[in-house]
Amino acid sequence: MMATARILKSLKILYLFIVLVGSTAPCATRRCLAEEFIKMKLFSSPQPPECIVTVNLTSIQYQTLSVDTKVMQFSSRIRINMEWKDPDLAWSDSQYMFDELVLPFNKIWTPDLGVDNAVYMDVKPVSSDILVQRDGTVSHAILMYTTVVCGINLFTYPFVQGECPVAINGWNQSSCGLHLIYGSVFTVGGDRGEWQTISVKLHRDNHAINRNYLQVTMSMNPFNALVSLVLPSALIMVADLVSFALPLEGGKRSSFKITLVLSFTMFLLILTNSLPSAEHCSPLIRYHFCFCMVCLVLSMLVSMLFTKLTTDGSIQPFRLQEMSEPDLSANCAVTKSSGLTKEGDSLDKIVIFLEKMDKQENQIKKMQIFANNLDKICFWIFLGLDIIYSLCIITFTRTAYCKFNNLDFW
Ligand SMILES: *[C@@H]1O[C@H](CO)[C@@H](O)[C@H](O)[C@H]1NC(C)=O
Ligand SMILES: *[C@@H]1O[C@H](CO)[C@@H](O)[C@H](O)[C@H]1NC(C)=O
Repeated sequence: MMATARILKSLKILYLFIVLVGSTAPCATRRCLAEEFIKMKLFSSPQPPECIVTVNLTSIQYQTLSVDTKVMQFSSRIRINMEWKDPDLAWSDSQYMFDELVLPFNKIWTPDLGVDNAVYMDVKPVSSDILVQRDGTVSHAILMYTTVVCGINLFTYPFVQGECPVAINGWNQSSCGLHLIYGSVFTVGGDRGEWQTISVKLHRDNHAINRNYLQVTMSMNPFNALVSLVLPSALIMVADLVSFALPLEGGKRSSFKITLVLSFTMFLLILTNSLPSAEHCSPLIRYHFCFCMVCLVLSMLVSMLFTKLTTDGSIQPFRLQEMSEPDLSANCAVTKSSGLTKEGDSLDKIVIFLEKMDKQENQIKKMQIFANNLDKICFWIFLGLDIIYSLCIITFTRTAYCKFNNLDFW
């Protein structure tokens, strides 16, 4: 009994010794060391004495994905490479031969970056592995998909250029938080799609931490809108001016102008959906369409009036036509002077009738000349109006009319 108890005791001591030696033995492989770090469960931030963790954003790659001018939002994809130091993830030279180590990203602390003015944000790690160096430097890369609300001045649509901030910052609460150091900032794929990203610049605020932003300058490719919106409207206006060359008689010109007005209305109906809408600063092109419409309708009405003037000799729409009553005075004359022969009587009648016809014809001719002159004056008025309008539009598009404050989210 005593012997077995002694043997058991010595076995227990041996076991304890083996366990102790085994646990302190240095790992020979990276995986073993990685498992050690995972066991430490380092989910909280390193929290150095000053409580501010410095994260070095070594590179920021920016790409605009889409711009929605209806709701004034744009989405972008931002790839951020970053580095920071976690002293607890360092290992000394003597124990391990290797310089680098791979850890799963969700087993240690990683800095949480945010976009202050985002209405939607999704952050994904580029890879599920993180590289850790001997001195505890951790390298990580994330992909950020953000949608940012940004007021772009659409007054001069389709010639639009706008600047929008994307405020990538860390967080801080009183004395603790993240301090970001920004490295290189560049843009990729800027010339794809309707909107082009011209430049991305980092704007630093030296007075407050976490008040920095990327200033994204974008411009719209005007070709599409020019071809589908401005060119057709300009051509219809030119067709309207040229149609003054059509003859007023017979109503040919009026019917042509009615066709123009109808086609312009259809064109507007189809295109109002593709136009950007802005409550604050409506694009000039909307006023342009209004102007075109009013001009077309006015010129159509003027042509109709002149057509009526040339055919009827009057523009009064509801004038009752004079009944061609038998000439009572002539009848009286016949009864009074009964001595005249019947032939002489009818000859007189014919002469009076012809004189009347002549008078009417003269009057209508006069009216026609008058209408044609008025028509020519109208043509010059419309031409002048169009030229003055074009000049006004050009000067208007040169002025900075609308301003947006896109930094009001702080
Ligand atoms: C940040 O990282 C870059 C690239 O690794 C390096 O050149 C730069 O010195 C670092 N900045 C700081 C303040 O550590
Ligand atoms: C973040 O830090 C800045 C400067 O250290 C400080 O002015 C600001 O109040 C801090 N923000 C919060 C939310 O504590």
